[in-house]
Amino acid sequence: MSVIILAIESSCDDTSAAVVRDGVVLSNCVANQDAHQQYGGVVPEVASRAHQANIIPVVDLALKKAGVGKDEITAVGFTRGPGLLGSLIVGTSFAKSFALAHDLPLIEVDHMQAHVLAHFAEDPKPEFPFLCLTVSGGHTQIVLVRSYSDMEVLGKTLDDAAGEAFDKSGKLLGLGYPAGPLLDKLARQGNPVFEFPEPSMEGLNFSFSGLKTSILYFLKKKTAENPEFIRENLTDICASVQHTIVTILLKKFRKAARQTGIKELALAGGVSANSGLREAFTALGEKEGWKTYIPAFQFCTDNAGMIGVTAYYKYLAGDFCGQDTSPYARQL
Ligand code: KG4
Ligand code: ZN
Repeated sequence: MSVIILAIESSCDDTSAAVVRDGVVLSNCVANQDAHQQYGGVVPEVASRAHQANIIPVVDLALKKAGVGKDEITAVGFTRGPGLLGSLIVGTSFAKSFALAHDLPLIEVDHMQAHVLAHFAEDPKPEFPFLCLTVSGGHTQIVLVRSYSDMEVLGKTLDDAAGEAFDKSGKLLGLGYPAGPLLDKLARQGNPVFEFPEPSMEGLNFSFSGLKTSILYFLKKKTAENPEFIRENLTDICASVQHTIVTILLKKFRKAARQTGIKELALAGGVSANSGLREAFTALGEKEGWKTYIPAFQFCTDNAGMIGVTAYYKYLAGDFCGQDTSPYARQL
């Protein structure tokens, strides 16, 4: 008999629902919240309210697109954390209520684990053990993935995440929120002619807060000399910022690969949508003799498909949770 999971993701500003049958994503629907653009970042209270408004329509759409009725669902998977508490509470409460009403088992999913297991939504799938560079708006991690459930964080950011580095740099350049995709687009039209210092971090950890400060001072100095500097050099500045972030990420990833001897390498998280990172990762993989994996765009950014895939493997392992579960804001 098929295992059909209804999955819910509401950790930040996207409300998403998916239907996953036997590990295959039948539908993956996302309601984006444009309201945050006017504030230049995600406003937690606004996000929670929008989740409340969006969750039922998004679930209805996911069921309709999958051609699956409510009575055909086998289990309900949901993001328990990490993320914004008010946002997580909406998805968690919905998942609990749905499971209670239909007498279904509940499966809690860790958002970061799901970003890694997004690789199992489609072929080609990496082989265990593999290394995953998970880069999102809230996290930057190098993860050693031994199995669907055994993951070890080998390195992480000690301050800003890679996505924040993109977003904050873009903000300094006057780009809208989230600046990451806009900066990527502009970078493609420019050249990395400006140099920004890379942090000297020990081991496999990252730091991005210094980059933001050096960009700020660089822009202040240049605009004092020429008030039109940003406008006249926007694409080259974007290309330089992107090049620096990508270089920092891939140097550590290469170090992790050489240290562990692992040749299966994967990118995950919203920043893996970045064209410069994708190209440089693929090129580095060819040079280093790695097999490289990047999920399809819909499985890079926050989505319930990856929650459903993770919940499916937890279902097979009999890993369920009770109705007394509650969300967590920081990774456990
Ligand atoms: O994984 P995600 O959708 O949400 C979190 O879990 O945080 O990642 C969102 C982050 C944002 O910082 C956004 O600017 C960044 O991913 N991002 C990008 C690109 N697309 C999304 N950054 C650089 N280039 C992109 N193309
Ligand atoms: Zn995410």
